[in-house]
Amino acid sequence: MAESMVGLKRSHRCTEVSEANIGQEVTVMGWVQKSRNKGGIIFVDLRDRSGILQLIFEESDCGAEYFAKAEKLRSEFVIAVVGQVEKRSGGANPNLKTGTIEVRAKSLRILAESETPPFPIEENSKTKEELRLKHRYLDLRRPDIQRNIMTRSQVAILTRQFLAEEGFLEIETPTLIKSTPEGARDYLVPSRVHPGSFYALPQSPQIYKQLLMCSGYDRYFQLARCYRDEDLRADRQPEFTQIDMELSFVDAEDVMDVNERLIQKLFKEICGVDVALPLPRLTWKEAMDRFGSDKPDMRFGMELQDVSEAVKDCEFVVFKSALENGGSVRGLCVEGQAGMPRKKIDALVDFAKGYGAKGLAYLAVHEDGSYKSSFAKFMTEEQLTRLVAAMGGKAGDLLLFAADKNSVVYNVLGALRLEIAKQLDMIPKNAWKFLWVTEFPLLEYSEEEGRYVAMHHPFTMPMDEDLDLIDTNPGAVRAKAYDIVLNGTELGGGSVRIHQADIQSKMFEVLGFTQERAQDQFGFLLDAFKYGVPPHAGLAYGLDRVVMWMVGADSIRDVIAFPKVKDASCLMSEAPTPVDPKQLEELGIEVSEAAEAKAGDKE
Ligand code: AMO
Ligand code: AMP
Repeated sequence: MAESMVGLKRSHRCTEVSEANIGQEVTVMGWVQKSRNKGGIIFVDLRDRSGILQLIFEESDCGAEYFAKAEKLRSEFVIAVVGQVEKRSGGANPNLKTGTIEVRAKSLRILAESETPPFPIEENSKTKEELRLKHRYLDLRRPDIQRNIMTRSQVAILTRQFLAEEGFLEIETPTLIKSTPEGARDYLVPSRVHPGSFYALPQSPQIYKQLLMCSGYDRYFQLARCYRDEDLRADRQPEFTQIDMELSFVDAEDVMDVNERLIQKLFKEICGVDVALPLPRLTWKEAMDRFGSDKPDMRFGMELQDVSEAVKDCEFVVFKSALENGGSVRGLCVEGQAGMPRKKIDALVDFAKGYGAKGLAYLAVHEDGSYKSSFAKFMTEEQLTRLVAAMGGKAGDLLLFAADKNSVVYNVLGALRLEIAKQLDMIPKNAWKFLWVTEFPLLEYSEEEGRYVAMHHPFTMPMDEDLDLIDTNPGAVRAKAYDIVLNGTELGGGSVRIHQADIQSKMFEVLGFTQERAQDQFGFLLDAFKYGVPPHAGLAYGLDRVVMWMVGADSIRDVIAFPKVKDASCLMSEAPTPVDPKQLEELGIEVSEAAEAKAGDKE
């Protein structure tokens, strides 16, 4: 039977009780972690989100009635206890914050009983994630998840404080908006009042925050929920949260400055990490050339080397044809791995193929100066020596080469670099390598769509020096865009926006938009820009990704209270589900037979 807590008031969270309270009476409430009856004396570990506190029940202190009640306690019962704080009678427990004290109970109320939970509520759970997510409300009781969620709250609060002090206003933007299918796929919401019409859930507040700049709210921020219907990965969810901001009368430097200081504050206060400012910067080109990635992990070296020059007159057709077709030959020097077994090298070749390589050429430099290589027979001794020198290779090293068009070479070697570092344990723990990547290409060519698409979004400003190239060589135009990267993850990104009508219409033109289509999709933004738009720029972080790094989580699901799984469903509520036919009728929606059959299968 559940008892009421009337007349009781919690005086402390479990770990707020300390040696300073010895001799005092406290009232504590929480969940029973475990209870041990040692015959005549009962020890109870009481748990709340602060941690664990040991309670001790003896009939001589609490009387027969309370003692009998204490005998009934089971895991996850919710209790309230009044008692006296004492120094621990048994030995101290160095693993607990409250390890030197205990509370000698005088009274006990059982506020709620609990069925046996489907898995133990414990740190580093070995229970399968599927079962945990099905009962997420229990999983969320586990100390490691609770710490993640509390850190997340701290990030949100500190961010608000910092940005408010910097003169930002927190403004909400709508989440039922017009669909603008550029970027990821939209989540759609049908309208009942306008049957056949749909809202979209925002992929980001981008257009609205730019409108706010038009309206004079010169520094805006929002912890904004965003929705993207894309394939999920370890650091992607269909709904996620951005720390989103936009500033007027600024250039890229101002945005980077304020954000470096925000990052410095967050990582200092939450992780105790000193981030040195200014953060290093790499242009996109340099990041690709050195690391094969626009979000380079700079915690370790093993940089890419361009050896196109060194191999330009060799007879190895793989290298030759890549160069003839305008590509390049680049390599990685894996130090001290000349003896890597053939099987392991073959596995790396397969890995490279998974990233689009046609193959992976290798050359091992043995200690006696001889080579073992998949292509040595096509090269002269002198050419090989030149190649090894160009790689900075020495006796004992393994050299791996990819030859193809640049985009493939970057992709393959960038991924291979990370894979080898992981396999060989080359990544130092507790390193925090932040950097900015700047000067991204404005556009990238989409083979699928047969046109250029915006690399960031269509409102990103080209670099002044490259404005003339928009007509002649769109692929070469660089953008005033910047990403902030931590340990190989893109934490956030942003750009200076176009605020000139002529540049914006040119941009739509290269993106293959007709005037009508641009007006149809973005008309309200373009119209707003006719009435005095200030120069503006902004940035957004993935809040979830920031927290993931702070707590060292491998999965984005570990930092979101109620996450979705890979197929975008929620295992606890079972969303999405079919709905009542009456609801569909109101919305003017018919579900196809094929879709209905699929939904039936699922059920
Ligand atoms: P962008 O699309 O780069 O920029 O998104 C900004 C940041 O949001 C995070 N992010 C995600 N996090 C979790 N799950 C996802 N599916 C997901 N997708 C993105 C990333 C990313 O860096 N409006 C622009 C910002 C701007 O220009 O101001 C925007 O949305 O950490
Ligand atoms: P092949 O002549 O196809 O047997 O290739 C000889 C060597 O070159 C093998 O080790 C292949 O894995 C490698 N190779 C093939 N294509 C490429 C490529 N595009 N880049 C680098 N190495 C390659």
